[in-house]
Amino acid sequence: MNILLLGAGGREHALAWKMSQSHHCDALFIAPGNAGTSQFGTNLPIGVTDFEAIKQACIEYKIDMLVVGPEEPLVRGVYDFFEKDTALQQIIVVGPSAKAAQLEGSKAFSKKFMQRHHIPTAAYAEFTADNFEEGKAYIAKHSLPVVLKADGLAAGKGVVIATTHTEALQTFEEMILHKQFGDASSKVVIEEFLKGIEVSVFVLTNGSDYQIIGHAKDYKRIGEGDTGLNTGGMGCVSPVPFMDDAFMRKVEERIIAPTVRGLEQEELIYHGFIFFGLMNVNEEPFVIEYNCRMGDPETEVVMPRLQTDLVALFAAMDNGTLADANIAYDERYCATVMAVSGGYPGDYQKNKIIQGLEHAGASKDVIVFHAGTQQNENNVLTNGGRVLAVTAYGNNIADAVDKSKNKLKEISFEGMYFRRDIGFEFGDSE
Ligand code: AMP
Ligand code: GLY
Repeated sequence: MNILLLGAGGREHALAWKMSQSHHCDALFIAPGNAGTSQFGTNLPIGVTDFEAIKQACIEYKIDMLVVGPEEPLVRGVYDFFEKDTALQQIIVVGPSAKAAQLEGSKAFSKKFMQRHHIPTAAYAEFTADNFEEGKAYIAKHSLPVVLKADGLAAGKGVVIATTHTEALQTFEEMILHKQFGDASSKVVIEEFLKGIEVSVFVLTNGSDYQIIGHAKDYKRIGEGDTGLNTGGMGCVSPVPFMDDAFMRKVEERIIAPTVRGLEQEELIYHGFIFFGLMNVNEEPFVIEYNCRMGDPETEVVMPRLQTDLVALFAAMDNGTLADANIAYDERYCATVMAVSGGYPGDYQKNKIIQGLEHAGASKDVIVFHAGTQQNENNVLTNGGRVLAVTAYGNNIADAVDKSKNKLKEISFEGMYFRRDIGFEFGDSE
């Protein structure tokens, strides 16, 4: 099979690494990819939302399967674009239709979906400029903290947890009246704050059957001890000690199964990953958000633990045999630690030379996934805020994290920063 993967981050390097191990994968192309993905296939200089150029590449390289990494092409309808085009219809697309991708593309859509299907989530209300005054009154009476969410895609920045009513009202005004996130914040969801521990669960579905392919805990804050600004994710661990059979059963019965049943009942076409962002509130799972793709850096620990052939799973998703697939995991723990550019998630510089990557593939226990990197003639350069995700296997979380950090000691670029405390709350739990 010839496969085209869309995206350029650590998630895509991990997906390329995993898919290239499949005997079903004859040729792999990545658009646009990074310096790491080129170890496993051919990078094509095409943007992820340039559907016409993607179409031409599919024809030129006789692509059989399109795997979509990030959310933007999905929300913009890449699935539907392929479905409608007679030259592309035969290609298996891994990703939901635009309508189903609204589970991530619109917070209001996803909240209504959860209400219709009785899926546990925080209580909420939604407001626009038309009922702005009502929204203010709602906020004034709301318990604290209160969570405000821009309805649309806002590059991970559209959520504010306000600890005072003044801050909440100011944020509400910024989002609705001053269009802080453009159209994405013309509607705002206001919801109850859930106190607990977050965990991400990943499912592959064809819209009626599903398989759980892994879970992970992400560390979103830039600073150690979970302090400072939110980032795309600074590191991950998997498996998570509190994800025992009893909790997973609740997640499956109350959240995963009703979600997939809801997709089927509402005829929302979904052939791809669902990312359940969950909160464990005193052993009870609640949905914080859905994403219509894999997580980053979650993929960098989920794929190394998944022993099942990923391309075979995609084919099973397409041909109706997903329910029969056998999901097997590596028994070991996995951790990934993200090395970022100085200044991230604020302003940062690019094009710094990365030293120490020569021996990156030398250990069986450690995998260096590239995120924001770019190859020039002689060097690998930084090309983004999140630069490398160093994943390691270990006998427990602390062991895996230590191996990642030891590898990072061999790697350097100007301004490089990483959190030393990924997995801190789990000690050496087994
Ligand atoms: P989202 O984009 O919906 O995932 O929100 C970003 C982050 O905000 C989440 O990963 C949580 O850490 C936090 N968050 C979102 N909604 C809530 C909530 N209702 N209660 C507590 N924290 C939340
Ligand atoms: N790491 C969180 C995300 O991918 O959205």
